[in-house]
Amino acid sequence: MRVNMRGAAALAAFGVIALAGCSSDRGGETEADPASTSTAGAAGGEICIEEGAAIGVALPQKTSENWVLAEQLFNEGLTEAGFEPIVQFGNSGVTEQQNQIAAMIEQDAQVIVVGAIDGSQLGTQLERAKETGASVIAYDRLVLNTEAVDAYIAFDNFRVGVLQGEALLQGLAERKGEGPYNIELIAGSSDDANSTPFFEGAMSVLQPKIDDGTLTVVSGQTSFEQAATAGWQAQNAQTRMDTIMSGSYSGDTELHGILSPNDTLARAALTSVDQAGKDTPVITGQDSEVESVKSIVDGEQYSTIYKDTRELVAQTIASVEELAACGEIPVNDTEQYDNGVKVVPAFLLDPKIVTQENAAEVYADDATLGPLTEG
Ligand code: BGC
Repeated sequence: MRVNMRGAAALAAFGVIALAGCSSDRGGETEADPASTSTAGAAGGEICIEEGAAIGVALPQKTSENWVLAEQLFNEGLTEAGFEPIVQFGNSGVTEQQNQIAAMIEQDAQVIVVGAIDGSQLGTQLERAKETGASVIAYDRLVLNTEAVDAYIAFDNFRVGVLQGEALLQGLAERKGEGPYNIELIAGSSDDANSTPFFEGAMSVLQPKIDDGTLTVVSGQTSFEQAATAGWQAQNAQTRMDTIMSGSYSGDTELHGILSPNDTLARAALTSVDQAGKDTPVITGQDSEVESVKSIVDGEQYSTIYKDTRELVAQTIASVEELAACGEIPVNDTEQYDNGVKVVPAFLLDPKIVTQENAAEVYADDATLGPLTEG
């Protein structure tokens, strides 16, 4: 039984945020400053968690290397901090993830950290978690359409998209001479709440260049729905690109660039273009996966994004420790992430763009990626 009820002051502070949050939607332009953590913007459950408490970490499928690394880091970091981690992947889909969260609650998990497969399908389980007094932290992916989420800890997703859009333009100018350029667009899985801000961030940069004729999407597939990749599966992106290549790039039509939301899909798209016998296009990515970093160093894939998983997991564990000390989850943004029923107080970290030019510098402190950039 958890007995350390929080004081009225903490509840009042939370009320202030809720009110402040209602006044503004995600603006798109606002950038959080990770350095300026505001105590006034703190968030959390109403009950202090106990030392040694079980902490549930529900991760999605292993659709990119960052999730696999997160599993290891959560297990190690939470154990070291004196908690009992329950870290699970929802490999077979939404129902499995729902069942895992329900089981974590049964095991008296006092914090549920969730990287949602489908951000709109967890309301029932997370509301149950809140009823038991647990705190709920959305990790990397926002949880949608429920009040039952205390905070969101992630890299700034809209900013990721902006950086990708800018990198695509920069790469085209560097590698393909003067425009106009032919491009194609790939988006993430439509059930992942991150996929829209990634795409919208990129389109905030690319749309004006489509409008002024600098860029042409030859397939005509410019909407998120047309560009989306079900389940973030490489095979789905490759099949769609195969169809686009045969339908829109037969004969001499060149494909100069591709917006890809992550590295796995970038490599799939490059395979498709290669099989169609075309030159390597400028292509973006995300996640700094080993194969893509090698490809960037070799001058093939143009860019990726570095979202240091160590930083994201450390910030999340620090938040759990705050809750254990009867404090509140630190946040630095109370405006951008409206989940449909509330603006979720967020701690946003800063993503970094990586190209061949700055790879060695960006990965200097990363024992896995740093060596890939040497010689
Ligand atoms: C993450 C990306 C990742 C994708 C697929 C997204 O929610 O933010 O980093 O590439 O999921 O795993």
